[in-house]
Amino acid sequence: MSPAFPTTRLRRLRYHPAVRELVRETRLSPANFILPLFVRPGEKIKLEISAMPGNYQLSPDMLLEELKAAADLGLGGAMLFGIPDAKDPTGGDALSDEGIIATALRAAKRAVPDLLIVPDLCFCEYTDHGHCGPIAEIGGRHEVDNDATLELLGRQAVVHARAGADMIAPSGMMDGMIGAIRGALDAAGFAHLPIMSYAAKYASAFYGPFREAAESAPKFGDRRSYQMDPAAAAEQAMREIELDLAEGADIVMVKPALPYLDIIRMARDRFPGVPLAAYNVSGEFSAIKAAAANGWLDEKKTALECLTSIRRAGANIILTYWAKDAARWL
Ligand code: PBG
Repeated sequence: MSPAFPTTRLRRLRYHPAVRELVRETRLSPANFILPLFVRPGEKIKLEISAMPGNYQLSPDMLLEELKAAADLGLGGAMLFGIPDAKDPTGGDALSDEGIIATALRAAKRAVPDLLIVPDLCFCEYTDHGHCGPIAEIGGRHEVDNDATLELLGRQAVVHARAGADMIAPSGMMDGMIGAIRGALDAAGFAHLPIMSYAAKYASAFYGPFREAAESAPKFGDRRSYQMDPAAAAEQAMREIELDLAEGADIVMVKPALPYLDIIRMARDRFPGVPLAAYNVSGEFSAIKAAAANGWLDEKKTALECLTSIRRAGANIILTYWAKDAARWL
């Protein structure tokens, strides 16, 4: 313990900008950022998402420009969300080698082979009801059928792998999803592909703008029977992570990021050495964008402070819509 004032003056560490820089511990690097992108069928399409300025629904040809920019900025990778033209009860487009995500993946890997491409693995963008798997009547309610979804997730993962995905990223919060996907990948000859699990994903109001971006809002009900309750014991998130690791997850994620920094910190301490990702979600981005557009917040300073807090809480990897901007700002 250092002696008290006036012997100790912590401001000595702050007077000189070079000393501040020298003792800085948390550093952001573009190599740890993953940029989420939205892709839909067609050509020459670049539709701005109104609630997420600077983010677009892109056709595969237009996607390539974004991916090249991401690679040039040294980003860690890009995450792809597919928005199919036609939706059905089981999300068939996601299970087809000719579907939007498989098509976009092949184009992406051809154009930018060195950039890590991670498609989001879920059914909510592909089902006509907007839920993350097929619906069944369970206990008198219409719910996502967990075990029927597992088999479909395995098939979807193999579609991603065949099309060139560098990593598999399941976001549906089904029990047993990591084991099912690992088994399907291994059986199809993709034992080398890592899985980044959305392990502790909360039923969050902060996903609002994303559902416009991905056209994935549930047509009835909500996702609270599969995504975590924000008020659940933090230990429940640790159990989710522990189970995913036991089933073979290579990287685990906490989502959203800013309202769940406590969970990120707890996961960092509880699972040392396990790569930890955090998803700085659409609502976290849009809220600051809107405030900045009104002149109420400085976007660059606020965004970098948020990203720093996520890193300081213990995340190694940050999925963020600011990935390109932040790389330029740094
Ligand atoms: C869906 C998915 C969602 C997000 C990522 N994957 C939405 C949801 O669960 O409703 C949200 C991302 C964001 O808000 O930026 N599987």
